[in-house]
Amino acid sequence: MEITINGLDDIRRAAKEFVGAMGDSKVFALYGKMGAGKTTFVKAVCEELGVEDVITSPTFAIVNEYRSNTTDGLIYHFDFYRIKKLEEVYDMGYEDYFYSGALCFIEWPELIEDLLPVDATRVTISEEEGGGRKVILD
Ligand SMILES: Nc1ncnc2c1ncn2[C@@H]1O[C@H](COP(=O)(O)OP(=O)(O)OP(=O)(O)O)[C@@H](O)[C@H]1O
Ligand SMILES: [Mg+2]
Repeated sequence: MEITINGLDDIRRAAKEFVGAMGDSKVFALYGKMGAGKTTFVKAVCEELGVEDVITSPTFAIVNEYRSNTTDGLIYHFDFYRIKKLEEVYDMGYEDYFYSGALCFIEWPELIEDLLPVDATRVTISEEEGGGRKVILD
């Protein structure tokens, strides 16, 4: 399916639509160029899922953890942009996150493609002419 985001003041509506389409999937791999809007969209989706803590752009080391009021438990938000070796991903214990049953949102999944669960849902975000964004869900 496809969701269009017409600017930042439309993002909550888009996030709501996305949450409605998530189904039982737990691991979401977010593809898209630098600046496409992955972090911004994950943030909006997490807010929609009842995360109250402010979510900043992930300058965090690989994984950030959020607590939600509405989904039972934790949400993990990964950014693999800065990894240099897959060894770093093994060392952080990625399997404990990906197969925990908790929701996982992954930025730059192409850098760990071989480690993605086979049932991960692929999401692609792209910037459109005029500045809007298109979100395509597998
Ligand atoms: N739906 C949107 N509409 C308008 N502007 C947006 C939208 N989403 C993101 N932006 C803007 O685009 C810029 C980059 O967004 P963001 O940091 O979310 O991108 P990213 O895909 O996570 O990039 P990176 O690959 O560097 O992590 C920000 O300035 C943000 O405000
Ligand atoms: Mg980002």
